[in-house]
Amino acid sequence: MVRAALIWLAIGFTFGGLMLADASVPGNWRAWFAPTHGHVLFVGWFLQFAVGVAYWLLPRKRTDIAPLGYNERTAFLSFIFLNIGLVIRVVAEPAPRIGYMSSGIDEMLIVSAIAHVGAIGIVVVQLWGRVTPRPVRRKNREST
Ligand code: HEM
Repeated sequence: MVRAALIWLAIGFTFGGLMLADASVPGNWRAWFAPTHGHVLFVGWFLQFAVGVAYWLLPRKRTDIAPLGYNERTAFLSFIFLNIGLVIRVVAEPAPRIGYMSSGIDEMLIVSAIAHVGAIGIVVVQLWGRVTPRPVRRKNREST
């Protein structure tokens, strides 16, 4: 997730650069990619980076059936849902802005939204139990 977030960061900044240089490069990048640039950076970069670090660093309750402290396959499913959903959005969102009208665009955006809601559902359920207060460590006063 953290590496995928870094890839989306690079893609999002590239879109941002093209939008910034809109007047000097062929195309109409601001009109085509403004919301997509926002989604790539907020969902692909910010959100995914935070979620990846949360899976990595939040306290784990390791068991024999979940040695990592969470079900890795289910977590991987949320990674797939998040990133496939975003790829679909990156294709479908600018398409009508560029002038490509197709009856499938709305359906693609719906699939993307469902994938994202599914991904976040998994993340919330898996991380909820890992948010616990740390046990208080008492100083051993006798040894000082
Ligand atoms: C994490 C960093 C960033 C985030 C979260 C972000 C997010 C956004 C959002 C939400 C919008 C509005 C999209 C809309 O109108 O629908 C936007 C617009 C824009 N962003 Fe970014 N952005 C980031 C970094 C950058 C960078 C690095 C550049 C340039 C290299 C850039 C260039 C632009 C431009 C040119 C616009 C359009 C402004 C306009 O036409 O009003 N952004 N950005």
